[in-house]
Amino acid sequence: MAKPSLNPVPAPWSPDSWRSKPALQLPSYPDRAQVDRVMAEIARLPPLVTSWEVEGLKEQIAAAARGEYFLLQGGDCAESFEECRSDTIANKLKILLQMSLVLVQGTRRRVIRVGRFAGQYAKPRSEDFETRAEGTFHSYRGDLVNRLAFTRRDRTPDPELMLRGYERSALTLNFIRGLIEGGFAALHNTEYWDLGFVRHSPHATEYRQIVEAIGESIRFMDTLGYVDADQMRRVDFFSSHEGLLLPYEQAQTRQVPHRTGWYNLAAHMPWIGLRTADPDGAHVEYFRGISNPIGVKVGPGTHRDHLLRLLDLLHPKDEPGRLTLIHRFGAQKIEAELPPLVKAVQESGKTVLWCCDPMHGNTEKLADGTKTRRFDNIRSELEQALDLHDELGSRLGGVHFELTGDDVTECIGGARGLSEAGLKRAYRTQVDPRLNYEQALELAMIVARHVGGGTAK
Ligand code: PEP
Ligand code: CO
Repeated sequence: MAKPSLNPVPAPWSPDSWRSKPALQLPSYPDRAQVDRVMAEIARLPPLVTSWEVEGLKEQIAAAARGEYFLLQGGDCAESFEECRSDTIANKLKILLQMSLVLVQGTRRRVIRVGRFAGQYAKPRSEDFETRAEGTFHSYRGDLVNRLAFTRRDRTPDPELMLRGYERSALTLNFIRGLIEGGFAALHNTEYWDLGFVRHSPHATEYRQIVEAIGESIRFMDTLGYVDADQMRRVDFFSSHEGLLLPYEQAQTRQVPHRTGWYNLAAHMPWIGLRTADPDGAHVEYFRGISNPIGVKVGPGTHRDHLLRLLDLLHPKDEPGRLTLIHRFGAQKIEAELPPLVKAVQESGKTVLWCCDPMHGNTEKLADGTKTRRFDNIRSELEQALDLHDELGSRLGGVHFELTGDDVTECIGGARGLSEAGLKRAYRTQVDPRLNYEQALELAMIVARHVGGGTAK
């Protein structure tokens, strides 16, 4: 039984009630009337996702919290409008499908696939402005807000970009839905998921053995008449992004026939970033009123009381599947900082899904200014997370990665021992360093072994 809430009578909520709270990380648009026009236009256009799908995901997350499913959430740190291309999208789908196959086989659980895509276009920044020889202009906050080139014009927040972002998200989702409906993700089509450049990957052999084993099982079940062809074809993919740019989120917040409440129909599962998870802030105010399953990042500095207030505000009814807590402490901090938060949730009596993001607490800058992450730290945080949840009588029910299906060199280490010097070969991220194919697959194998009962070491 959940304990009674500290705030039994919540204040009235509306899609724009966040405006009465302090809002961090929002751009200052020069022309408010233009913002209103763009928001009105987005609000008139059809939604990107439906409440049916959103509720379907909530049910699956509830099942993951009971240990029946495992959540795999991954994609770019930031998508860019330029990279809204068929090969980039298909490659991301391929790596997520390969990882989920490894997870299904190893964990013996169903996997919920949630992409950081179709809307992951807005980024928090530590400084509002950036100064270079050319002058002082707005920091780049993602393609949804302004442009990367360093001129006053490009860096000035432009509301039209919200419309472009909505359209790019629709194009991305349309392609993904088309691929999936057409059978691309079906288990008997695993050969379509191969990425040309990885034939010689150190993990390719293990992956191929897994594919073979699954193929064998399917053929066996098929012979017995147990395989439902339709069931095998259907694979769900859900979309998620950080719900940072509140005017954009508000414009796609709707009521739908035959349901009560409000839905954010810009993504199935929006999440609140670490920097905007203040219980008194605008982002938490917005998120408390939507009916979607939501994520909240927690990390260094998220104290017990802070978390309990977030549970009160965002998860008052303990609704199954509603809240996923995505922890990102860093390999050095997780051991000290995770247990008090797990215990606080246990004492509250509420159920959440715990998900580990081993990326964002492990970012570092090299002497030449390159932002990177060491695979060993990522791996260590993930392994510690798995062990800590076990020790605390809790359950790690998901993972959250920044990855790409392209052949990039942004994180140091992994099966091929990528070195500092090797980063230069294909360092392409505009924001945070992402796992490449091999590194991502290696992490999936570690989780699969651990959750499936083997040893991760
Ligand atoms: C992110 O997910 O890209 C991000 C900024 O993470 P966090 O809010 O955890 O720092
Ligand atoms: Co990031």
